[in-house]
Amino acid sequence: MNQVINHVVSGFAGAGMTSFEKFLSVLQCPACAGGFSFAATASDHDVGNYGILTCRCGQYPVIDDVPILMTRPVGIISHWNDGAVHAGPAVQDLVTALKGGATTEALLDCLAFPRKFPLQGRLTRAHLWPVSISEKAGLAQTRAGLRRMIGQPVGKVVAKDVFNFFYSRRSGNNPYNAEYFLNRFAIPRYLSAMALVQRFSASEKPVLDIACGYGHFDHYLTRRRRSTPAIGVDLNFYQAWGAKKWVAPDAWFVCCDAGAGLPLKSDSCSGAVCSDAFAYIPDKALLVQEVERVAPMRPAIYARVGNREVGPPNPRHGGELRPDEYWDLFGRNHSRYFVDVALWKDYLMRSSPLDKEPATLQSLRWEKYLSYVTHPEALSAQGEEARVWCHGVGKLVLNPVLEITTDEPGALCTEFMFRTVWGAYEDADMMAYTDRWGRIEKTELRHALADPESAAASSLVGRFALIGVPEHFVPGDSM
Ligand SMILES: C[S@@+](CC[C@H](N)C(=O)[O-])C[C@H]1O[C@@H](n2cnc3c(N)ncnc32)[C@H](O)[C@@H]1O
Ligand SMILES: [Zn+2]
Repeated sequence: MNQVINHVVSGFAGAGMTSFEKFLSVLQCPACAGGFSFAATASDHDVGNYGILTCRCGQYPVIDDVPILMTRPVGIISHWNDGAVHAGPAVQDLVTALKGGATTEALLDCLAFPRKFPLQGRLTRAHLWPVSISEKAGLAQTRAGLRRMIGQPVGKVVAKDVFNFFYSRRSGNNPYNAEYFLNRFAIPRYLSAMALVQRFSASEKPVLDIACGYGHFDHYLTRRRRSTPAIGVDLNFYQAWGAKKWVAPDAWFVCCDAGAGLPLKSDSCSGAVCSDAFAYIPDKALLVQEVERVAPMRPAIYARVGNREVGPPNPRHGGELRPDEYWDLFGRNHSRYFVDVALWKDYLMRSSPLDKEPATLQSLRWEKYLSYVTHPEALSAQGEEARVWCHGVGKLVLNPVLEITTDEPGALCTEFMFRTVWGAYEDADMMAYTDRWGRIEKTELRHALADPESAAASSLVGRFALIGVPEHFVPGDSM
């Protein structure tokens, strides 16, 4: 039976509500800007919330804790927002499926994509393999794999398996993404963003993570000592869903197009971050205006935006601006820019980028990546405490970029290796602060794992031998 809950709460911290109800209370319809009532649908398997959100103008599905607040089909959309890898179900068909109680099938519809078979491309081009048959067979194969995956407890399947599933060579997605999301907590661009993100003040209101991917920032925000609620939004359902289940279970996620107006109530957030994604938003002025609406006068960090005048273009068909154009867009009198290759060094040296004199615009001519902050004065001067590293927040595990080459009686010997050429190109600076050939003394390792607050832990995290990750990120036996 469906249960209807009407929400009249405007803040994130309403008394007597579940965390899910508080989350729903800050959402609004991207079309009519009205609030929602929620009718829950009992799920046919034991998982997150399912149901239907109703506003003045229509209805939207909530699938396994993730509201889908958009009108375009759900599916697997290229990270570069330049086409669908696979167009999935229409949102209204999902609403109908939920009304009929078909929760698992609705979830599978959102996640499935046709697996490619070896030689399929060549055979199809030679007209030896009809597209519709291979598409059907590929979809059936993925669906069976997904059914197995969701049938297992979280923990048996870990985030790494999910990345490998969605970015396998046969997925149609770019396989580099598996490496990107696995190494995300330790690559230079994460550290660059963290030089700023660690300065969000604690708040009852959530930080909004725009184009959140798998929610790595939301893991940090919800698990750091000054924990802060977080809401991530992404165009891709499979990422928002994966983020909630495997990366940041305490945060909440919405599947929506961040370029089409934000589905959050005015003044509902304490700040915003948009990392490694601003280039993919077609209407940048609208997004900046929307961020100001949902988090007025609060800091918004647009991390790693690309300079159009420096190669490579990202995405391929354009989307970047020049440094002065970004500055005009963000508002010269209430924003600041930072050079990304300086930010990760600030992070490692524990110096605040806010204390430095800004570089001149002319000096940015050959800088590829910059970060902009609006209302930087609202960031806290205080970063993480001494010995605490953002990349050490969570469960300590061997840095996934390392492999154990020799297991000696007293030490583990490790080797650093990127998996893809693109990974090595994009994140080459990681080698500057991570041992190429490392040695981890087992006594120190035991101390570190037994007490994450110990000097041993701080030292191994400082060396990037260990990093902090969500509970179910990598297999338990990876060390
Ligand atoms: C390179 S990933 C970055 C993910 C995350 N922000 C991070 O730093 O780990 C780019 C993300 O942008 C998302 N994206 C692209 N266009 C979008 C749009 N219009 N609205 C919401 N998300 C979008 C993609 O789905 C992808 O998850
Ligand atoms: Zn509406």
